Amino acid sequence: MTQTHNLSPTLSRLTVRFATEVDLPQIAHIAHVTWDATYSETIDAENRREFLARSYSIESLATSIGAPGQWFYVAEFEQEVVGFGHFVRRYHPTHGRAELVRFYVLPDYQNMGIGRAILKTGFAALAEARIDRCSVSVQATNVRAQKIYEQHGFTFYRNHGQFLGTQIITLSQFIRPIIAEDLRQD
Ligand SMILES: CC(C)(COP(=O)(O)OP(=O)(O)OC[C@H]1O[C@@H](n2cnc3c(N)ncnc32)[C@H](O)[C@@H]1OP(=O)(O)O)[C@@H](O)C(=O)NCCC(=O)NCCS
Repeated sequence: MTQTHNLSPTLSRLTVRFATEVDLPQIAHIAHVTWDATYSETIDAENRREFLARSYSIESLATSIGAPGQWFYVAEFEQEVVGFGHFVRRYHPTHGRAELVRFYVLPDYQNMGIGRAILKTGFAALAEARIDRCSVSVQATNVRAQKIYEQHGFTFYRNHGQFLGTQIITLSQFIRPIIAEDLRQD
């Protein structure tokens, strides 16, 4: 799915499309830059480095490209990939469930509506796939991202701890129903 958004003059050259293998080095670059900008105060440098080396290696990212039950999008602004959002189907015996597992936009391109365009494209794809609920886990201290999720219909569900290298970080899980309205991307 490729979606061109015309939300504002600034975004008239924004395209959200599926990631391909060619995009992987840029996705890894965005992750490194944005992780450093977002988590330098809360996650130790060595733990960040290890996590990124493991989860954003080209080999690790490549397993998600075109895989069933995965919707991995990049946002291209003026022909440059500047952000990405990755949704994954989660098993549930009776319901369609998914999780937003990666969501990053380069600091210089944040607050322009690019994240919003990625979310809308993803929610539409989830609705089409008959997913009825999407979750996301965000660091409890990352109030800014939580505000964005709430603005897009997520509500707080619960806190849980997770090891990140030598640290335990508290994650806040948010959930959002996926509804027929999400099929419309206006
Ligand atoms: C979270 C993130 C991906 C969102 O992407 P983004 O492109 O910055 O998001 P948007 O520009 O769509 O803005 C989202 C909200 O920011 C605010 N915003 C947007 N433009 C703004 C502006 N010019 N001035 C102030 N606030 C603005 C609005 O509240 C907007 O909500 P809306 O969609 O209801 O208008 C991005 O900010 C990011 O990478 N943050 C750091 C990493 C992170 O925390 N990732 C999430 C991990 S769980």
